[in-house]
Amino acid sequence: MQVLVLNGPNLGRLGSREPATYGTTTYPQLVESCRAVAGELEIDVDVRQTDAEHEMLSWVHEAADNEAAVVLNPAAWTHTSVALRDACAMLRAPLIEVHISNVHTREAFRAHSYISPVATAVMAGFGTDGYALALRWLRANWR
Ligand code: DQA
Repeated sequence: MQVLVLNGPNLGRLGSREPATYGTTTYPQLVESCRAVAGELEIDVDVRQTDAEHEMLSWVHEAADNEAAVVLNPAAWTHTSVALRDACAMLRAPLIEVHISNVHTREAFRAHSYISPVATAVMAGFGTDGYALALRWLRANWR
């Protein structure tokens, strides 16, 4: 099973970015933990991060072409990007939307997601553990 774990803007700064909200796990540590869980589950995983929306769109297109599952933390694009939603709507395998924080307990603008209506499932508030939980769900529920 091929899974792309895609992270949007500012997530490369995890560890130092607002630790009270996003925790102290660094982005390299998050990548390592995703790879470790994927190895255990025998999932072919590719973990990526970008601050450039066009690059994220090209990765979602790639996942659509390859029928890869996607674990996506769209970060701020969750709340702004019709383009990312339209790209996600083309996916042919499950899409798990992940948020490290519980976006529903924060500012009102974070409660709306352009992505959720086209996602298979949505996780928020599990900290960086949400990524491993998403991979485990895919293992159990997707071929
Ligand atoms: C986030 C929540 C978003 O509102 C925010 O813009 C992020 C991270 C999260 O993982 O909790 O950058 O997606």
